[in-house]
Amino acid sequence: MKVIKNTKIIKRILKGSRSLSFIPTMGSLHNGHISLIKKAKRDKNKIVVSIFVNPKQFENNKDYKSYPRNLGKDLNILKKQKIDFVFLPRVKDIYLYKTKNKIYLDKFSKNLCGKYRSGHFKGVIDIVNRLVEIVRPKKIYLGKKDYQQLILIKKHFSKNNFKIKIIECNTYRDAFGLAESSRNKSLNENQLNVARNVYRILKKNKLFIKRNLKNYRLNNLKKQIISLGLKIEYIKLLNLKTLKYPKINENFNIFIAYYLGKTRLIDNI
Ligand code: PAF
Repeated sequence: MKVIKNTKIIKRILKGSRSLSFIPTMGSLHNGHISLIKKAKRDKNKIVVSIFVNPKQFENNKDYKSYPRNLGKDLNILKKQKIDFVFLPRVKDIYLYKTKNKIYLDKFSKNLCGKYRSGHFKGVIDIVNRLVEIVRPKKIYLGKKDYQQLILIKKHFSKNNFKIKIIECNTYRDAFGLAESSRNKSLNENQLNVARNVYRILKKNKLFIKRNLKNYRLNNLKKQIISLGLKIEYIKLLNLKTLKYPKINENFNIFIAYYLGKTRLIDNI
């Protein structure tokens, strides 16, 4: 496994490898990331994983500084997974890199998390664009837990005619349904149980809503979740294709962002 920190060097090393599979991460790797790696391995391409906690996608320095980091453990995980290349850019180096593409932010960026995290998606698209320009992979693996991020990256790639295939990967959940997230590492045992209960409530309500969309009141669901003692940022039903409120008989997911103490979690079920 080659660990590369410099933009120019990684560009030079990867120049000859044109069948690359890429998994961008912010580190603090968990089973969700490992499931993306395992999926990528099936393609038999060389695999590049990037670890970069991107300051531009955090609203404030405090949140950026407190994001869980565990580089030593991450590198051990990647070594065990037999990854070919790990890219660990430095902030200055990656932002000095001159990009070719213009950031395209679709209006969907104003919905869901975008409504509450100003600048977040611009920061995400900017860094993913940089990483993809540098690594030039054939395929990129992205999780559906960050569904809004996935859609916005897709729209940016399509607007800029990127020749890249996005592999959409299912959310990896623990035995109790909780979506794996680096932020789960900040939760205590009690908060973990609450987060698992949120999943249980959402799952149960989704079945009910499917049958009763017309008479359904989102406030009922909100009340059940708030009674667990947490703060909801948003909760919304969206058709995954139209990205609008679903019509009767359309497929949809419930999208949620909430705070458990200081930890912000998102999910869609
Ligand atoms: O989903 C993430 O971990 C990050 O938003 C990403 C895609 C690595 C960009 O920093």
